[in-house]
Amino acid sequence: MKIAVAGKGGVGKTTIAAWLGDYLNRKGMQVWMIDADTAISLGPALGLSLDEVPTPLVNNKKLIQERVGSGVFINLNPHVEDLPQKLAKEVRGMKLLVMGTIAGAGAGCGCAANAILKALLAYMILRSSQWMIVDLEAGVEHLGRGTVSSVDGLVVVSEPSIRGLQIASNIARLAKELGLKKQVLVLNRTDDDFKLPQDIPLPKLVAKVPYLESLAERQKSSSCVLDLPEVDIIDNICEKIIKEMRK
Ligand SMILES: Nc1ncnc2c1ncn2[C@@H]1O[C@H](COP(=O)(O)OP(=O)(O)OP(=O)(O)O)[C@@H](O)[C@H]1O
Ligand SMILES: [Mg+2]
Repeated sequence: MKIAVAGKGGVGKTTIAAWLGDYLNRKGMQVWMIDADTAISLGPALGLSLDEVPTPLVNNKKLIQERVGSGVFINLNPHVEDLPQKLAKEVRGMKLLVMGTIAGAGAGCGCAANAILKALLAYMILRSSQWMIVDLEAGVEHLGRGTVSSVDGLVVVSEPSIRGLQIASNIARLAKELGLKKQVLVLNRTDDDFKLPQDIPLPKLVAKVPYLESLAERQKSSSCVLDLPEVDIIDNICEKIIKEMRK
């Protein structure tokens, strides 16, 4: 099953993606963690130090040139089958692929970098039968229709704010238009009694995540979001998300 995590900036996408991967991994699943965001944050959230995080694929100019070419003669259908194994970094038994963002692919090599990212994401999403958690930047449109619609589900993360929920609503609508129908809403850093506004169309709310003092404290000295004392609360949230995705 492949799950993408999206939402407004800073709402907790990477944290929730890392929790989901860790939860599944501890349940004995083989999990691919895909960092498809600008900031290289999924690796550190899983406990890697910055120098252990692999170079994002978008920045691997040599590989892009070799597979896609450059200028007007780029190959939009590059050979990528060997790349997941070649580029993956093992983290706690999970496999991490750091792609980087398509939009942030950089001047001059944007097209070629886009071509390889899209091809690799599409290959992983369409061909792999393993669990995959994709940490996205806010939008989902850059994945392309075919790729997005092949993801099994989208976790839309929001904070309990009108602006955040409006953005969550837009992401959900866009994803739906692209064919990604299975969506859930996770409210992060929220009080349990927060009520959703009735006038904003949103995916089904499946979990509320409280503000975790332990995580805020941890972030002062480490970017790892795992092994928190509230592991039972976090596992329960992950369980609810996965259960809904499986319906
Ligand atoms: N429930 C929570 N309680 C306390 N801190 C949290 C909680 N959720 C996330 N955080 C912290 O908030 C910060 C932002 O979270 P995170 O990086 O997961 O957000 P993001 O949506 O991935 O951000 P970006 O848009 O920059 O990728 C991190 O420092 C994270 O540890
Ligand atoms: Mg993030």
